[in-house]
Amino acid sequence: LIDRSIDLQVQMANATRLCATKSMVTVNGQCPGPELVAREGDRVVVRVTNNVAHNITLHWHGIRQVRTGWADGPAYVTQCPIQTGQSYVYNFTVTGQRGTLWWHAHISWLRATVYGPIVILPKPGVPYPFPAPHKELPVVFGEWWTADTEEVVNQAVQTGAGPNVSDAFTINGLPGPLYNCSAQDTFKLKVKPRKTYMLRLINAALNDELFFSVANHTLTVVEVDAVYVKPFTVETLVISPGQTTNVLLAAKPYYPGANFYMSAAPYSTARPGTFDNTTVAGILEYENPMSASAASFVKGLPLFRPTLPQLNDTDFVTNFTNKLRSLATAQYPAAVPQSVDRRFFFTVGLGTLPCPANMTCQGPNGTQMAAAMNNVSFVLPSRALLQSHFTGLSTGVYAPDFPVAPLSPFNYTGTPPNNTNVATGTKLLVLPYNASVELVMQDTSILGIESHPLHLHGFNFFVVGQGFGNYDAVNDPAKFNLVDPVERNTVGVPAGGWVAIRFLADNPGVWFMHCHLEVHTTWGLRMAWLVLDGSQPDQKLLPPPSDLPKC
Ligand code: C2O
Repeated sequence: LIDRSIDLQVQMANATRLCATKSMVTVNGQCPGPELVAREGDRVVVRVTNNVAHNITLHWHGIRQVRTGWADGPAYVTQCPIQTGQSYVYNFTVTGQRGTLWWHAHISWLRATVYGPIVILPKPGVPYPFPAPHKELPVVFGEWWTADTEEVVNQAVQTGAGPNVSDAFTINGLPGPLYNCSAQDTFKLKVKPRKTYMLRLINAALNDELFFSVANHTLTVVEVDAVYVKPFTVETLVISPGQTTNVLLAAKPYYPGANFYMSAAPYSTARPGTFDNTTVAGILEYENPMSASAASFVKGLPLFRPTLPQLNDTDFVTNFTNKLRSLATAQYPAAVPQSVDRRFFFTVGLGTLPCPANMTCQGPNGTQMAAAMNNVSFVLPSRALLQSHFTGLSTGVYAPDFPVAPLSPFNYTGTPPNNTNVATGTKLLVLPYNASVELVMQDTSILGIESHPLHLHGFNFFVVGQGFGNYDAVNDPAKFNLVDPVERNTVGVPAGGWVAIRFLADNPGVWFMHCHLEVHTTWGLRMAWLVLDGSQPDQKLLPPPSDLPKC
C-alpha cells in the first residue's frame, strides 16, 4: 500500500479570458486544477484548506469510496462544508479501479472553476489491454463565464428562471481561436507522425453534453468512467458532464507541419450550431522538421475542420452509446447482477413550482423552475445526511420515504402529458446491504429537449438497456444485455426515452444521485440512497474522521 499525500489550497486567483480579467475560486491558483495521479490500490490522503470566503467541499468523481463515504464530498450529503480558514483531510483507498476520473467542488456552482483530472494507473507491471500509447494526457472540457458563477446561480435561484449560459467552452481552460480575442488561448497538442496518443477526455462543463472530433483523424474509444470497454473507432463522440472517455488517436505517417482543429460543441442546448463563436477548438499540430518545399506546400493548406453533428442529433447519440460494451473477459469481468432484489422506476424531468410569496418568478407562467425524480424536487438539508444517519439524529434532516414510483404516473401518449407536478422534500431511499438493484429512469421531456446525465455516487452501475418512448415493463426487460453492458458512473437518460441500470448495493453509506447538468441539480434533480450496514464487521461504514467539518 502506497500513500499519496496531496496538499490542495483553495484560493482566489485572477484569470483573463475573452479579454476580461476576473478573480475566481481555484485550487492551488490553477484552472483546471492539478492532476492527481495514483495507482490502483494506493491510499490517497488529500488535505484541503479553504482560503476563500466561500464554503467548499471537493468530490472525487467516480472513486467508489468503499466504506469511506466521509471522503466522498457532496456538501450536506456526506459532509458539512469546509468553512473559511478550515481544513479537512479526504482519506480513501483506490480499490479495483484504474483509468481516468476527475475531482471537482461539490457545493453550489463552484465546480465551474474548481476541477481537475484524476489519473489512476494500473497496478505495477499490469499493462493496458491495448497497445501502450506513445504519450497520454488529460483533455478537459470546461465552461467559462465572464461573470462570477456564484452570481449567475444566485440570480437564477432568486428569479426562478434559467441561468445565463456561459461565454465560452474551453479545452484545458482555453477557449481557442473561434472565440473573440482568444487566439493566444488555444490548446495545442503536438504529435509525431505514426505515434499513438491517449487522450483522457473529461467533460467538466456545467451544463452541456458535448460532441468532440478531430479533423481527418479517428478516435478509438478504450475506456469510459475508469472501466475498459471493447475498443471501437469513431470520427466523433459524445461525452456528458461527469463522464470521462479515454481515446487513442493515431497520428498519420504524413502531414508533417500541418494543423488540424479538434473541437467540441453542445449536443442540446439553447446555443447556436457548430463552427461559430460558440465552438471550442484546439489544434493538433504535427511536429517534424520539413524541407522548404514541404513547408510551402503545408503553408498553402487550410486548417482542417472536423464535422460535428448538428444540435439535437439524438440518433447520433443513441448510435454512439449503443456501441459501448464492457470487456467482459476473465481479467476484466463484467459483474452484472443477474437477478434483482429491488426494482425501481423513476421519472426524471423538469417541472415547475408555484412562486413563493416573497418572489417574482420568471419561470413559465410566473412559476419557479424545478426538476424532480418521481416528482420529488430534492432540497438539501442544513445538516449533512451521512452524519445524521450515523449519529441516529435524522429527525428534521431527512425522511427515509423516497417514493418508489412516480407520484403522478407518466405516459407519453396521455393527453396532456401531466408529469410536471413537483413536490419538495429531503427523502432518502433505503436499501439493505448487498441488495441487487435495478433502476429504470424515464425521461419526461415535457420542458426542454436534452438527455439528463445521471450520476450515482459510491457505485459503478451497468447500463443494461435503453430505448425511446414509454418504458415497457413487460417486453423491454427481455432485451436487456446482461452479458457485456457498459459499466460506468454517469449515464444519459435519453431525451424522450429511458435507460435501465443495475448495481449491487455493497457500499454502506449515503450516496447522492443527481443530474450532472448543474442547472438541473440546482432545480432539485437529485436524491440520495441510504445503504445500510451489512452484518459482518467489514460491511460496516467506518467511523468519521475526527476533523469532519461541522455545520
Ligand atoms: Cu461529479 Cu455529485 O458529482
